[in-house]
Formats: sequence, C-alpha cells, structure tokens
Amino acid sequence: MEERELAESLTHLRVVDGAPVAKDRYLSSAFMDLEMARLWRKTWLLAAHVADLPEPGSTAVLDCGRESVVVVNQPDGTLAAFHNVCQHRGNRLCPKAFDCSDRLVCGYHGWTYGLDGALMHVPDQERFPGLDPGAHGLRRVSCDVAGGFVFVNLDRDAAPLSEFLSPVLAELEMYDLGSWQLATDSEMLVEGNWKLSSDVNNEAYHLANLHPKLLGVADDTACEVTTAGPHSRLTLPVGTPSERLGELDEVPEVLVEMLRDAGLDPSEFQGRVGDARPALAEATKRRAARDGLDLGPLDGARLTDNFQISLFPNVQLNLYANRVLFFRHRPHPSDPERCWFDQQVYVRVPAGKRKPRPARTTASRTDGGDMMQADLHALESVARGMRSSGFTGLLLSDAERPIRHLHESLDRCLFDG
Ligand code: FES
Ligand SMILES: [Fe+2]
Repeated sequence: MEERELAESLTHLRVVDGAPVAKDRYLSSAFMDLEMARLWRKTWLLAAHVADLPEPGSTAVLDCGRESVVVVNQPDGTLAAFHNVCQHRGNRLCPKAFDCSDRLVCGYHGWTYGLDGALMHVPDQERFPGLDPGAHGLRRVSCDVAGGFVFVNLDRDAAPLSEFLSPVLAELEMYDLGSWQLATDSEMLVEGNWKLSSDVNNEAYHLANLHPKLLGVADDTACEVTTAGPHSRLTLPVGTPSERLGELDEVPEVLVEMLRDAGLDPSEFQGRVGDARPALAEATKRRAARDGLDLGPLDGARLTDNFQISLFPNVQLNLYANRVLFFRHRPHPSDPERCWFDQQVYVRVPAGKRKPRPARTTASRTDGGDMMQADLHALESVARGMRSSGFTGLLLSDAERPIRHLHESLDRCLFDG
C-alpha cells in the first residue's frame, strides 16, 4: 500500500483530546509500518555516545526496526553515517555494534568500502561488466552531535538537529554528558511494543503500587511532568519519603541505605527525616570535590532529584548529578509486539581517567534489580492484556501526561507530515 493510503487507512487511530488512546497503536502491524515510514525514517534518532567513536575508524551501529545505520569516525575526526547495508546484495555490512578499522569489509563476498563510504574494492571486478564503483558507495545518512550524543536521521532533508533538540538542549548541556564514562551497556528483547517499554518509564503513577519500597526515598506525590516541544520531562524529588507515608518517626530502610551510601550517619536523621535531602545534596557536593569532579552549574534539587528527559521518540535520560540512567526502546524489524530495550549507565569521571568502552551485553530477565524486573513484568503483562477483546484503549491521567504527549508527537509525524 502507498504510504499516503496507509496513513489515511489509520486515521481512526489518531489521538483525540479527552478520549482513550487506541490500543491498536501498540498492536497493529499497519501502524508499525506507518511508524517505520514516517517516524523512524524521518526523525533524529540517538545512535551513540560521543565516546563510542573515539578515533578515526571507530564505528557505532544503530539497529532500528528494518533500518540499520553505521556511524563512522572519519580520518579528519568528523563523523559520517551510512545505511549499514552492502550495495552488492544487501548484506548487513557491520554486524558488530562497536568496532574499529580503516575500511568496512562486507563479510559475504568481500566488497570493501572506505571510511567515507566509497566503494574501494570489488573482488573479481572484471566479472561485473560495466560496473562503476563510483556509483555504488554506501548511502549517506544525516549525522550530527549535540549534548554529548551522536544523532542520525535517515531523512536527508530533515530540519537541523539543533532545532529538534532546542526545547531541551540547554538542560542537557548543563550536564556536559560528552565527558562522562559509559559504565554498563545492555540490551534485551522485550515482549511488547516499543511504546509500552517507554510508557513504564514515563510516569511515576505506578510507584506506589509497583515499587512501594521506593516511596521511602522518593516523593511520588511531588512528581512534576511537563512537555517540551515533541519531548517531555518528569522530575521526581529523591532523598525524601513520599507524602503518602505521612509523618515518619523512623528513617525508612531504603533511605537509611541511601544515607549510608552517601557517607552519612542515618541515626542523625531519626525524628528529622526532612533534613535528609539537603544533607544528601551537601554530601554529593563534598564527594564530587573529593573525587575531582566538576558538577558545573548543578545545584539545589539537581544534586539529589531525578530529572528525566524523554527525548522523542524513544530515549529517556534519567539525569542525576553523578549518574545517568539511559533507556532506549528500539522497534523490532517485523513484530509490533516486540522491541529492543537498551539500558546504559553513565558516570562522571575525573578528566583524563576515561576507561575503554565496556562491551554491550545481553541482559537477562533477572538482571537490573527488583525495580527493573517489576517494570518489565508489568509492561509484558500489559502487552498480553491489551490483546483482550475486553479492552479498547488507554485511559491516561494528568500524571501520565508524557505518555499521551508521546502519542501526540507521534501523530504529528504520522498524519500531519
Ligand atoms: S553482499 Fe556484500 S559483498 Fe556480497
Ligand atoms: Fe517502575
């Protein structure tokens, strides 16, 4: 079906103010096809951290649905990106996520491309009469860097990255993430649409029921959500118990652990639990000074709380003063009810102390602690549940605003383009 016809056939799934969000946006193969055509092939996508491409010849691969892009550090240190597909017979060119070489060699018949994508060598070229190697280099993809990350866009006519990121760029730059170190990197195949994987991280409404322990250190009742262009923000006070728990005489056990980890004496906070958060903020500053880490402009709530930026369409950066939890939700190539969930942790490192990039691992269901397992269990349970004929659409509260906003931003790509 033509892309335009496909879009017209799906307009009944558009998000309407005040109405439930249609479940087929998560389940339908046709909707997935439209996302492939008008979202993933048209939008800036976060492909890598700048430190993933440290030297000429370094490569980073982003697999996204049916597309794959390879970013290549050029001999002059600039970055270029290409469709990660051999022009001979379509083999996936760079199978590995991170590699370094002075050329890109296809594993099938050995066609060889330069770092600039030019076709340099065709084995037995005389058997391809009339082949013009100059016409069969790798196909270019737009590529740019902002906020410490490398972004790609398959649409060569797309608006600039700076424009796309402008509503959140100043906040990202406060953290100087390009100087941080990747500490862990994992991916996992999840049994649910990529938006379900995103949704579970886009609201704090589930904390009280799914992660009750967390209420000892995070005030879910003071969680704030806002939109920022196509993106959104979620801010959660940390280091202070939830208002739901009422007046506390004892310091909750999870807060005791947090205070201990920060080098503070939990017994000092008995009867004055409210003093824990400012004390944790001061401890963060002291520790940074001791470790030679520059916190830049971060102060006040930024020293304790979780500031999450949801970068449209599929990345969430949970920004803490010294740690960033990175989530990315990549669509499956053919199944709307599966996705790849990437989870990374970044930490600050003193200047000159950067270590080599850790290898990407495949996370198992038991990795990531209780919280992660509970989230995963919930989202896969929703994936199964929403297939029921007894369910038609999602009813979203104000607290789940970032979920609805993702759908609204998505509709602008799918139907208003
Ligand atoms: S498909 Fe790449 S060399 Fe044949
Ligand atoms: Fe959760």
